[in-house]
Amino acid sequence: MEWLLLLSLPLALSAPIYEDRELVFVQALWRHGQRAGNGEDHLHDKTLFKYGIGELTEAGIENTYNLGRWLRRRYVDDDKFLSPVMNPKELFIESVDVNRCLMSAESVGQGMYNADGRNPPLPVAVHSRPKKTDWVLGLTWSNCPAIGREFSRICPDFPDITTLTSYNDYSAETFRCTNASQHATFFNTKEKYLLIDALIALEQAGAKLPDWYTPQLRQEAKEMGQKSNHFQLGIGEFHNENILRYNTGLLLDTLQSELAHKWACSQGVTQNCSDIQPIKFRAFSTQDWVLNSLLEALGQGARLVALNPQGSPQYNALVLIELWKIRGSPYVKILYRPDAYKEQATVLTPYIGGCRQEYCSLDVFGSCCGNTKTRNPEQECR
Ligand SMILES: *[C@@H]1O[C@H](CO)[C@@H](O)[C@H](O)[C@H]1NC(C)=O
Ligand SMILES: *[C@@H]1O[C@H](CO)[C@@H](O)[C@H](O)[C@H]1NC(C)=O
Repeated sequence: MEWLLLLSLPLALSAPIYEDRELVFVQALWRHGQRAGNGEDHLHDKTLFKYGIGELTEAGIENTYNLGRWLRRRYVDDDKFLSPVMNPKELFIESVDVNRCLMSAESVGQGMYNADGRNPPLPVAVHSRPKKTDWVLGLTWSNCPAIGREFSRICPDFPDITTLTSYNDYSAETFRCTNASQHATFFNTKEKYLLIDALIALEQAGAKLPDWYTPQLRQEAKEMGQKSNHFQLGIGEFHNENILRYNTGLLLDTLQSELAHKWACSQGVTQNCSDIQPIKFRAFSTQDWVLNSLLEALGQGARLVALNPQGSPQYNALVLIELWKIRGSPYVKILYRPDAYKEQATVLTPYIGGCRQEYCSLDVFGSCCGNTKTRNPEQECR
């Protein structure tokens, strides 16, 4: 007994500020940093976008590094949760197999563990799955005929989705289906719609904008882009649990299963723990559509609170899911940091199905979100 007390003393001293609370596990999901637009050579600023189409910008790399610094302040300096010197076994950082997300994962890791300005910066291990079979973070619409069937309910002449192999063709079709072009003063053809991604990237990078691209047209571009995006993801006015399930149902199931598994392992009530035992920080380096879809699955209220006022996840937006032990029981706290600049993250837990308070019992959270999760999206997509 005395021996036990002695052992637990240093732990108690280094415990977080709340004496009856202990952080057990953190899941973090972030959007990559600022990037160049896709396509349209004449809208490609070769100075700002020196790494090429769709890739991170210098500002994107720097802000993403600063996201890592922010995470370090929270989990190393304040909570004393992660080791100050990187312990690679404490971390499991996964990225979808897309350059800007892989590079962002690396930058976040360097921001977290380069406190002493080590040069070269400490490399971090980043895990990834082949894009074509990544059903957690990387769904490809053309692999999911069931999404096409959902689209056809609203848009009877939606083409065979398996033939839409280019994102531009797919995106232009979803835009057509929203009928939004009927209200557009400028973005009313496929060709003009397809300029939106490049225009928004220019604006967000602070580049010089074409003279014709007025503030009114910027607003219209944003609205048209979001409309098509909502249609694609089954969110907002196009809320559709089936589409949500195909897109991020396995991710949500993975998040919930890992929380339950980690809790059981931390309590010693299950044997099969070698995979998760050492891991304290589990991250996903991902894209705006994943965060958007996941937030909608967690609750439309949660999504609206998180994305107010921008309406969509910004570069370096961050979702945190923290597993806490409070008076012996497991609770989940969910936060959203909207971009790379805000110091404070917003607590989302009260807006998540059944939770109501800042800390949600793991049981309640683990059974949230109805029809939006799945263990086998590949089969459901057929
Ligand atoms: C767009 O218009 C077509 C034809 O009238 C209709 O079938 C479709 O449902 C409309 N789309 C939306 C999102 O309302
Ligand atoms: C151990 O856990 C892993 C995943 O956490 C699971 O896939 C596997 O089936 C489990 N094995 C046993 C024997 O329970």
